[in-house]
Order: sequence, then structure tokens, then C-alpha cells
Amino acid sequence: MTSKKEVRILLVGDPGVGKTSLILTLVSEEFPDEVPAKAEEITIPADVTPERVPTHIVDYSSQEQDEDVLQEELSKSNVVCIIYSVDDDDSIERITSYWLPYIRNHLGEDHKTPVILVGNKCDLMDFSTEEVMRPIMNDFAEVETCVECSAKTLKNISEMFYYAQKAVLHPTAAVYNSEEKELTLQCKKALTRIFKICDLDNDSILNDDEVNLFQLKCFHAPLHAQSLEDVKAIVKRNISDGVVNNGLSLKGFLFLHTLFIQRGRHETTWTVLRAFGYDDNLQLTKEYLSPKIHVGLGCTTELSFQSLQFLKILFQKYDEDNDGHLSPPELQNLFSTCPMMPWGPDVNNTVCTNHNGWISLHGYLAQWELTTLLDVPRTIEYLAYLGYRYLNDSQLSAVTVTRDKKIDLEKKQTSRNVFRCHVLGAKGVGKTSLLQGHLNRNLRYVATLNKEHLSSFTINTVQVYGQEKYLLLHEVDVAVSDMLNPTEMNCDVACLVYDVTNPRTFEFCARMYMKHFLDSRIPTLVVACKTEHPAIRQDYIMTPAQFCNKYKLPPPQSFTCIDKVNKEVYIKLATMAAYPHVREIISRDERLYLKIGLVTAVLAGLGFLVYRMNRSSS
Ligand code: GTP
Ligand code: MG
Repeated sequence: MTSKKEVRILLVGDPGVGKTSLILTLVSEEFPDEVPAKAEEITIPADVTPERVPTHIVDYSSQEQDEDVLQEELSKSNVVCIIYSVDDDDSIERITSYWLPYIRNHLGEDHKTPVILVGNKCDLMDFSTEEVMRPIMNDFAEVETCVECSAKTLKNISEMFYYAQKAVLHPTAAVYNSEEKELTLQCKKALTRIFKICDLDNDSILNDDEVNLFQLKCFHAPLHAQSLEDVKAIVKRNISDGVVNNGLSLKGFLFLHTLFIQRGRHETTWTVLRAFGYDDNLQLTKEYLSPKIHVGLGCTTELSFQSLQFLKILFQKYDEDNDGHLSPPELQNLFSTCPMMPWGPDVNNTVCTNHNGWISLHGYLAQWELTTLLDVPRTIEYLAYLGYRYLNDSQLSAVTVTRDKKIDLEKKQTSRNVFRCHVLGAKGVGKTSLLQGHLNRNLRYVATLNKEHLSSFTINTVQVYGQEKYLLLHEVDVAVSDMLNPTEMNCDVACLVYDVTNPRTFEFCARMYMKHFLDSRIPTLVVACKTEHPAIRQDYIMTPAQFCNKYKLPPPQSFTCIDKVNKEVYIKLATMAAYPHVREIISRDERLYLKIGLVTAVLAGLGFLVYRMNRSSS
């Protein structure tokens, strides 16, 4: 797997060094006695190149072409071969005095186009120019390698083109610092991420099973037991702590890759890097981080079975003390394969934690569901950093896209697991306490929290007719104009909150209902907060109960959280969200309500009967 679709090789060098001869020799496999000044551009089809990438070879001749053409060709090429003649000192001197500076001048001082130094006509000399080339390689980082060949005797001809191809497909500069003789910082970072993902039991050692899985995933072939032992022996011989408890440490893993590169086997390291999503500049590709996912109108996004499984295992991997909660360092570790920590301190007030504020497995999964519902590209991106693709084929299997809500309404059933509730209310009515109550936190506890880190979301599970569903509460700030934008209206249930101790708070709920929810299909629940206090009469033309009755809303639900949180309200909201067509949600209060209704009906019927009896007897 490589990121380049084709390779373009340009040959430059002084007149008469043998550029055209080299190209024609490669094509015909024999040395042409007479050559034109310039060979036509040739294309080698993918299936006959060692790396299976179509390759174009371009000649340049100053006899026929001017510098404009040369500059254009330089810009188009992926690799440049500077040809010199080993028997011509001038052509050697011109590599540093002319050609390398010329290329830098045109492509930029820090250009990334690799250069290969090719000494032709080695049939004419019996000593090598390699010693002369070495300092040039040190002075010019763009020089990838040097090779000596002969068009006349066909020596090293195909090798030379193979090196050129390799220089493009497995570029050294990004992974290896030739001056320092070690991996680049970027490469170490990438390989460290890979190591952590592959260290499934998080013991900082790749044991034999982990190495085997790694081998299989990257190279699609198992590693022979003997090779594994050989590899470990090499590491052991060369560095201390490279092999620990008969497994490969990070140090050993990095050493192995340094060794591969130093021995010219860049492709091994590159194959690994590409399997984990890296491009030529060691950035994770867009395709790896953000594969396109289609979410239709009315559909929502939830974690799939696979991603839930992956995330649970990840939690257990990093919950090192096995206490069911992630301490701050454990959480930091969990996200150490990501470019940054995605969760801020407000997460602790968005989901369930223990009394230290450490996130539980339950809270951790809830936070992932929240991200997946509100910002699915972010879930997909972070799962990519975390190595979801290492154990699953496709990133997209992480997300379930639910069917259009309209169909759910028609069929009167839903398979969705996450529902969204918007909480609206005047200032100070108790919206935040209602949100925090969802996490089982009473007022006393909420008072201890840092107000700066409070969140306008909370999410937790709720039992809806025996099934566990996620209910996401979102406190919506209503603009001065009373307007709600489409996202602020986009919810499965609305919760309108007023304060029984403040007579001017129900009017807001009534106004919001009339303005936004009356004509929508969004079920609405009116919630009376602070009901540990006696209710004061609201300044409104109707009482809240009369209002609800008039608009066929469930009666106002009372809520208090001063000590014990009254959790009825969350069950009701989740049930209304999951079953929007069921107008009357039966709960303990309503059963009473219903009974009363029934008794009234029986009495009414009795009255009718009595009346008839009276009439018939008259
Ligand atoms: P320009 O197009 O003028 O820039 O030259 P070029 O680099 O294309 O050189 P060309 O291929 O025309 O070769 C120049 C001369 O060197 C010819 O006479 C070739 O026969 C000869 N020549 C090329 N390669 C070799 C080689 O490997 N060994 C020997 N002995 N002669 C060679
Ligand atoms: Mg030529």
C-alpha cells in the first residue's frame, strides 16, 4: 500500500555522461552504439515494476532543450537522478558546483524531491567513486543514495531505476535523519503510537502474540517462530532493555525500525506506517481519519456494537488499578495516541463520576454516545487515533446510523438508543440542578462544583419499559428575541421548566410552548422545580395544570433535588422521547390520575342509569 499513484523519474547531468544510453539500455536490454540526443519519455507499466506502480522515465538533453523545459520537468518529477561519468572528473565536480544547487534553486532550499547520484561508465574504471560521493550525501540531505553502473555492460541498470522508484515510494527523509543516524522525531512519535495500539494488554511490552498479530495486520502473513526468535536475538545483541520479559520493548521496537532503514529496507517501516494511516509526511491521511459517512435527514448516529466493544476493552486496558474508574493519569494515558486530549474538565459534570470526579465506565461510554450523537466526525476521528482500525476492518463500522425519525413515528416503534431532550426555562428556575440530578447529584453536591466547569449537557441511561436508553439533556439558552434556531429545535422531547417559588416563571414556559412546540410533533413535558417548597400562584391566565390540560400535555411533573433527587422526571422524558405517539405516559402519579378518571366515569354512568330508571318508572 503506497500513497503515490505513479512515479516520474528525471535524468539530468552534463552532456555525454550517458543519460540517453542508460534509458535505452534499460528498455532494450542492450547497449546501443548510436543514440539520439534525447530519448522519448517512456512509461513502464505497473505490472513489470518491482513496486507495482507505473513509472515514467524522462530524459533531458541540453543539446536539444532549453532551461525552461528543464525547470518544468524538475517541478513535475518525483525523483531526480544526477548522472555523472566516473571517468570524467569535471562531471563529478559539477554535481556540487552546479546540479544540486540548481535543483535547490528551482525547487526551494528544503525541497522534498529525492536525488540519486548515478555514476555511469563504470566499465571504464576499476576503482569506485563511492568515497567521493559520501561527503556529498552528508552535505545534501536530499541525496537519497548513490549507485555506480554501466550502460555498456548493463551493470546495475535495473537497480538504478529501482532505487529511484523506492526513493519516491518509501522516502527516507521523513523517517530517518541521516546526519544523526536515527529516526526522525515524527517517525518516533508515529511508531510510538503504533506500539501502544499493538500493546493490547498495556504492559509496555509486545509479547509474541502481540507481535504475531501486528505482523499479520501489517504484512498479511504470519511470522515464523524462528524469525521472531532471530529478531529478538538481534535486538538483544545490540541494545540493552530492547527485549524485556522475552518481549519487545518500545526501545527495541524503535531500534528494529532504525535497523531496517539503515539496511536499506525502508519499505518495511513504511508498510507499517501506512497500515496505521500515515502519508509521506507522516501525517494521518484524511481518508484514515475522516472517511465519509452519510447521515440522512431525520437520522441520528449512535455507537455500534463493535465500537462499544472496542471502547470497553480500551477502558479496561487503561484502568490499571481495576477500580472501574479512570483517574486523571489513566485518562491521559488512554488518549496518549491522540494529538490532544479531547475531553476537558466539563466532561466530569456531563457524565457520571465517583466522588473524586473520576469517570466511570458507564460515564465514559455515555460521553462517547454524546459525541457520536452531536459530532459523529469527531468520534470517527478519535477512534482512528485510538487504533479502532487495527482490530476492525472499517472505521465506518463504528457508527450506526438510525432510520429516519418519520418512519419511527409511522411504525410507532424505534430501535434508537440515544434520545435528546432540550431543557428550557427562565433564569434561575433550576435547569442546571435538573441537569445535574440526571447524574444522581443532589443540590448539596452541585454546590461544591466549580461553576466554570459546569456543562450545558448531561447524559445518563434511563430504563424505558425495561430497556436501557440514553437520555441527553441539553440546557438551551434562549435568545433575547425568544427565537430558537433549527438545531435548538432538533430534539426528541422538550422540557419546559418553571420555579414553584417564583410566580413569574411559568409564563416563559407557556410562551415557549405556544411559539415553538404547539405546532411541532415534539412531545413536551412541563416540570415544576423546587417542589420541596409550597407552590406560589403563577402570574398567568391559567394555572400550569390547566394549561397542560388545555393543550393535552401530561400534567406538570414536580421535581426536587435538595437532598434526594426525584428521578421520575428523567424516566418520563425518556419514555416520551422513545414513544412520542403515546400521549399519556403511565407512571405512578398517573395511575392514580387514571383511577380517579375511571371512578368519575363510573359515577357518571351510574347517574345516567339512575336517570333512566327514574324515567322508566315515571
Ligand atoms: P546528452 O544528451 O548530450 O546530454 O548526452 P547523454 O548524457 O545522453 O549521453 P549519451 O547517452 O548520448 O552518451 C554519450 C556517449 O557515452 C556515447 O558515445 C555513449 O556510447 C557513451 N556511453 C554511454 N554509456 C556508456 C557506458 O556505460 N560505458 C561507456 N564506455 N560508454 C558509454
Ligand atoms: Mg542524451
